[in-house]
Amino acid sequence: MDAVDELLYGEYDYYIMDSSEGKYLAVVSPLKNDLTNLKDQLIALGLQFVGTKETCPEDWLKNIVTEPFEMIEGVIVDPMDHDLRPSEGTIVIKIPQGLAFGTGLHQTTKMSAAYLKKYLKPGMDVLDLGCGSGILAILAKKLGANRVLAVDNDPLAIEVATDNALRNDVDIEVRLSDLFSDVDGRYDIIVSNIVAEILVVMLQQARNYLKSNGILILSGIILPKVSLFDNYDVVEKTVMDEWNALVIRI
Ligand SMILES: C[S@@+](CC[C@H](N)C(=O)[O-])C[C@H]1O[C@@H](n2cnc3c(N)ncnc32)[C@H](O)[C@@H]1O
Repeated sequence: MDAVDELLYGEYDYYIMDSSEGKYLAVVSPLKNDLTNLKDQLIALGLQFVGTKETCPEDWLKNIVTEPFEMIEGVIVDPMDHDLRPSEGTIVIKIPQGLAFGTGLHQTTKMSAAYLKKYLKPGMDVLDLGCGSGILAILAKKLGANRVLAVDNDPLAIEVATDNALRNDVDIEVRLSDLFSDVDGRYDIIVSNIVAEILVVMLQQARNYLKSNGILILSGIILPKVSLFDNYDVVEKTVMDEWNALVIRI
């Protein structure tokens, strides 16, 4: 799936579904988007086109994860509004599976979440750059962060992240921004789960937005691209399947 992941990751919400008849790839996209080009690219990668279906997020939900799942140790994601009674110290985040990336199921989100849990100390300021559903920003706040700013350059993500912040009753700022274009302040942690090429551009400006001793949690780096970060001070690295996450100091 390397090439398929590389094509879709960060651009589309997508799922691999196993069934008795084989494996299916489902790509979710707003109706207004023309997917002809994407379809051709997927076919060129050897996939067989099955069909398209108009649906609404609620119907789509019936086919995918609806039960709460442990995204990382001690952090449960609830896609529906279950009445959960978590044990003390367990964090529950309510994230309906919708159109913005960041359901908690993708390896890149899980690795970012695990690093947030490890490095975030209560009272820290956190920037979630490329927030998608807002899942990482919400987690940061629930881990005790002070200021949390969540930005994305996709208006749909801003809408979804704003809804999810309300749903989780957390006070985070959500803002449309192309990388740092509308970011203010300095942060103890910048977490960014975007494709490697964009992360490299982001790193060129990141110093202006990090406090001294601040760290960057970078995810979304597919294996062949990890060498793009060879010249940085990598504090820690995690690999899940073909994905890498790095903790970097600059
Ligand atoms: C892979 S998703 C990550 C979502 C979520 N943070 C997570 O970890 O699950 C990447 C997000 O980055 C956003 N993005 C891509 N390029 C961006 C840019 N130049 N500025 C801000 N956001 C960007 C995309 O719209 C998408 O929502």
